[in-house]
Amino acid sequence: MIHIKNKGLLHEHTVLLNDSSNLSNRDNKHLYTQILQGNAESPMISYLMNLNKQGLNDFKSIAKFNELNISGMYGDSIKYEEIIDETTIFLPQKKFKKIKESFSSIILKRRSGRRFHHFEMSIDTLSHLLKYAFGLSDVSLPGAREGKHRMYSSGGALYPISVYLYINNVEGLSNGFYKYQPGSHTLAPVDTDTINTAEFFAGSGMDMLNSCLSLFFRYDINRNYVKYGELSLLNSFVEVGVMSHNFDLVATSLGFVSCPVAGFNKNLIETALHLDQVNEHIIFSSICGKE
Ligand SMILES: Cc1cc2nc3c(=O)[nH]c(=O)nc-3n(C[C@H](O)[C@H](O)[C@H](O)COP(=O)(O)O)c2cc1C
Repeated sequence: MIHIKNKGLLHEHTVLLNDSSNLSNRDNKHLYTQILQGNAESPMISYLMNLNKQGLNDFKSIAKFNELNISGMYGDSIKYEEIIDETTIFLPQKKFKKIKESFSSIILKRRSGRRFHHFEMSIDTLSHLLKYAFGLSDVSLPGAREGKHRMYSSGGALYPISVYLYINNVEGLSNGFYKYQPGSHTLAPVDTDTINTAEFFAGSGMDMLNSCLSLFFRYDINRNYVKYGELSLLNSFVEVGVMSHNFDLVATSLGFVSCPVAGFNKNLIETALHLDQVNEHIIFSSICGKE
């Protein structure tokens, strides 16, 4: 544990209060000082301070994954992971239209939007949005028979994050949860009990009612822990940021706005999606609509 006297960490967020019995009933600035003084634990700081620590187990696992090209095998087996049955929705994919707007104008225009006007997104637009944000690219994974890279980078090409959508206003789709399946470019509907969508982002000012859709990013720990150990969490948080930003840029290019949202109701969404909440977590979300 950190001790302020040893580390000499004095800056604008340090409050010199030495009452160790009063650990947490003030604010985060006070709590932060208590952490630096060694009176309170911070899982976040412990994680950061141990980020580069690698054990023999890590070396063995990373070497095994690289030597056996396990990511290539994962890429080849994507079709066995996806559910194709009479309920599966095949997104239109005859030809993906090129995004005509220049990259510089898209990136200059991007900003977060939280209020929308009621607008039905076309199924074509949804198909483009998902393909360009999260779909398979044209590039083959090294050593794979059929496996492809995706539109975003992934630590070890293990793709531990999957994308769920809550469809709120999209042409031809019933409102509800769907899982995006990038290998087949399809949506698998998820059966849920009646759900109060107003609670998804409770208190955060998101215009759920007029949105076209929301996204929920699911992280499966086993997917990358068996290679990277404790480093997996950092990789997954970065990956979800990369994915979310890809989505923001593609949404902007198609004339929509989106907002990355950390303030989502984790327990509500995970319960609705039947996640085990031990290996399977929702770690981030996003909302999208037309202004
Ligand atoms: C990791 C992350 C989490 C965010 N969480 C929220 C959130 O919970 N609620 C919200 O209204 N905006 C959220 N945002 C959006 C930021 O408020 C927004 O990006 C910031 O104000 C800068 O504005 P801009 O995106 O329009 O450039 C989040 C953004 C990021 C990158």
